Amino acid sequence: MATRGKLERILKWSVLALLLAGFAWFQFAYWTSTNDCGRSIPDGAERMMAIRYCEYGSPDVLHVAEIEKPVPSDDQLLVRVHAASLNFIDPPMVRGGVFGRLIAGLRKPEFTGFGQEFAGVVETVGKNVSGLKAGDEVFGQRRGSVAQYVCARKDRVAPKPPNVTFEQAGAATRAGLTALQGLRKGNIRAGQKVLINGASGGVGTFALQIAKAFDTEVTAVVSTRNLEIARSLGADHVIDYTKEDFTTRTEQYDLLFDNVGNRSFEERRRVLKPNGVCMLAGIGSAGVRKGQLSRIAGTFLASFRSGFSDRKFERYITEANEDDLNFLSELMAAGKVKPFVDKTYPMHEAGEALRYFEQGHSRGKIVITTADEAKPL
Ligand SMILES: NC(=O)c1ccc[n+]([C@@H]2O[C@H](COP(=O)([O-])OP(=O)(O)OC[C@H]3O[C@@H](n4cnc5c(N)ncnc54)[C@H](OP(=O)(O)O)[C@@H]3O)[C@@H](O)[C@H]2O)c1
Repeated sequence: MATRGKLERILKWSVLALLLAGFAWFQFAYWTSTNDCGRSIPDGAERMMAIRYCEYGSPDVLHVAEIEKPVPSDDQLLVRVHAASLNFIDPPMVRGGVFGRLIAGLRKPEFTGFGQEFAGVVETVGKNVSGLKAGDEVFGQRRGSVAQYVCARKDRVAPKPPNVTFEQAGAATRAGLTALQGLRKGNIRAGQKVLINGASGGVGTFALQIAKAFDTEVTAVVSTRNLEIARSLGADHVIDYTKEDFTTRTEQYDLLFDNVGNRSFEERRRVLKPNGVCMLAGIGSAGVRKGQLSRIAGTFLASFRSGFSDRKFERYITEANEDDLNFLSELMAAGKVKPFVDKTYPMHEAGEALRYFEQGHSRGKIVITTADEAKPL
């Protein structure tokens, strides 16, 4: 009995010590979380305009600031940005929800640049970079992309085809790769029947066109106002989600590319053919809203449950790489994929752009142009 009491006391004090250590760590991490907003630009350094946010908050925290122009390393290219676009990750990073703060800084955003992708013209290349030169038009991925210049790694960019605009190419990287990598991981093959749940947003408009480029029969699930857009992008069949629930149909599909995650495991399983695959691409449109946590939990549960089923549910994280970017570039050059741009904003209206995007009803992509911003506002 005495030994048991002793063990209980040790356990109690250990838990208390751990809680105290956790609390102390949190306090330390919170109060030391800072950023470069107060830092001045060194004398003689070149300057540029960029969108910055020094605090978390509403889209109003986004502002145009004069900052130091980046200098490329030997492995990087310096790109004069013409257009950038918004992605699902941007609203939570700016708002600073729990996940945003865990990734980007507890009290303040440690990285204050805005945007993840861009299109523009190469200005200089580092000495280890081959295959691209000053004057080449490119698109790719780099955080802090809503700026006049970015430095990007060679394996994060691809040539911009001449038949697409900077606005279109600046919208292609994240959504295009999410669609391409999801469809490929879902084993897409010519002749298959593919259903895209949520085919009218940034990722969905790419998924629809890329699935068609693979010669599949595509059914797009969209709302009434987006039926025509889905048809114009090549959908063979459209389902209006405001009038019909796709999971109650008798038709079955080889591949379900699910951007929304608003149906149960059983409902989605029912519309998959034997050995069919459901790619768990997303949890609905951009913006922070109720129900997202349960949809995230639903993706984990679905992929676990599908381990015991002949229909697979797969989660994945998009990763930029040169081969996939080049493939996207080729699809655009061949006219098989044409990035669908909903609205374009000038850089000083980045806050408005984010506000519109996070309402969650964009059709295709939201683009911000940066080329005309010459001076601080
Ligand atoms: N797996 C990855 O690594 C990865 C990477 C990037 C993004 N994503 C995911 O991709 C998803 C889509 O992102 P996004 O940037 O494309 O969002 P988005 O552009 O904001 O999507 C907006 C579109 O979603 C449609 N939509 C909303 N609810 C719908 C529903 N119940 N059924 C069908 N369509 C619906 C909207 O149409 P209406 O206006 O008609 O409702 C709107 O056109 C996000 O959930 C994100 O998490 C995943």
